[in-house]
This record gives sequence, C-alpha cells and structure tokens, in this order.
Amino acid sequence: MLEVKNISAFYGDAQALEDVSLGLTAHGVTALLGPNAAGKSTTLRVISGTVEARSGTVTFEGHDITTMHPADRVHEGIVHVPEGRRLFNSMTVEDNLILGGYSKRKDRKNSQKLNDVYDLFPRLAERRQQEAGLMSGGEQQMCAVGRGLMADPKVLMIDEMSLGLAPVIVSQMFGIVRDIADTGMTVLLVEQHVKNALDVADFATIIDGGRTRISGTAEEMRNSDIVRESYFGS
Ligand SMILES: Nc1ncnc2c1ncn2[C@@H]1O[C@H](COP(=O)(O)OP(=O)(O)OP(=O)(O)O)[C@@H](O)[C@H]1O
Ligand SMILES: [Mg+2]
Repeated sequence: MLEVKNISAFYGDAQALEDVSLGLTAHGVTALLGPNAAGKSTTLRVISGTVEARSGTVTFEGHDITTMHPADRVHEGIVHVPEGRRLFNSMTVEDNLILGGYSKRKDRKNSQKLNDVYDLFPRLAERRQQEAGLMSGGEQQMCAVGRGLMADPKVLMIDEMSLGLAPVIVSQMFGIVRDIADTGMTVLLVEQHVKNALDVADFATIIDGGRTRISGTAEEMRNSDIVRESYFGS
C-alpha cells in the first residue's frame, strides 16, 4: 500500500540515502533495521516529506506522492512519530494528544479518538492532566505514539520507540504496536532492538550505508545469515 522505490536523498552535499527500496503491506508491521547512520530516520523523513527524495519514487495507495507537501501526506493518513518524542513538555498529556488530532479526514471526532488512545494506554488516561515533561520516559513515549494515533493514520511510522526505555516497558510498547496493527493500521517501525522488532513484525527491511541490503518476512530475517551475523553475534 506504500512503496518506496530506489530513493536517494541528501543533506546539503552529503548523501544520506543512495538506493533505498521498501514496501509496506496493508495492516502489517514492517521493521526497518540497520546500524547507526544507515539512513533509517532519513527514510522515514522521505516518506513523510520532510526530506526531499533526489531520485526515486514514493507511492501511496497507487498514487505518486514523491513531491507531495508533508501536511498533505498527514491528511492522506501518513503519520510520523519522530525520534526523540518532541512533546510539548509544559503542556498536559491531554493537550499534547489533542494537538495531534487535527486531520482533514474527519472520520471520527477527537473525543472518540482520545478514548481510543486512553483505552490503548490506560497510563495516559490516569495522567491526562500531568505535564508531559514530568512523566517517565516510557510514559512520554506512549504520549508521542498516542499523539500520532490522534491524526487517525493509515500508516504509522515510529522512529526508535524503545530508545532508553526499561526492558519491561519495551515489551509492553511492542505489544501495543501489535494491537495497533491488529486494528487495521499499517505500521513502519525503526528499531535498534532487532530481536524484539522481528518478534513483533511481519516483514523487515535492513538498510546499511543508505542502501537496502535485504528484505523479507520477519521469519526469513530471523533465519538470515546476514542478519544473524550482523545483529545476533552468531
Ligand atoms: N539533519 C541532518 N543533517 C545532516 N546530516 C544528517 C542529518 N540527519 C542525518 N544525517 C546524516 O545522514 C546519514 C543517515 O542518518 P540517519 O539519521 O537517517 O540514520 P539512522 O539510521 O536513523 O541512524 P541512528 O540509528 O543513529 O538513528 C548519516 O550519515 C547522518 O549523519
Ligand atoms: Mg535514526
């Protein structure tokens, strides 16, 4: 349903992506994996439109969106939860969530969407009037994902969801990602926790040095020699 083909991208003169291709299957979880500086975050930025593709194409539901304005992509249902959460720290959890709720696709009211997010993250419901900046790292990450969900995405892209979180919270978050996909959403997950990511994902793509190295089902990736040697040390 979303297809990235042979993308290259630059920051100034520095090339970040050389040849990245990646396809998302509707209602599935795809993990985008690779070492530091591989180009994972840049790939998400090309999909959300905040970094321009110098060459290659991005198509969504059969339409070429390679040059579409970032805000229009959000309206089409492509939502990016960036690295580092970027919450408004002095605002409450609920106000942070409501800010995410602007969408041209007014299929559902904000109040309904808030309830859905609180159902998914009961912890956020308990802390709805808490200043976001005073919450734990895990709670802040829940708030960032919840804010993304408020935009009613078809595709939810989450960058380094588990960074800096305790293992028990990481497992909880991965479980919630599975629940999100099971509601019919398509999820693209950038992760350093390769094992957890492959456990929750249906598909995975590995990039390195700005190039796609290998793609397949999560099962194929778990059994791939390249992945085992690079990521599991065996
Ligand atoms: N805002 C930026 N300005 C200039 N160069 C950047 C910027 N963001 C990333 N880069 C460069 O682009 C390349 C790809 O970076 P990117 O952030 O996409 O990698 P990543 O796979 O997300 O890495 P990490 O796992 O460390 O988050 C790197 O060489 C990086 O230094
Ligand atoms: Mg990154």
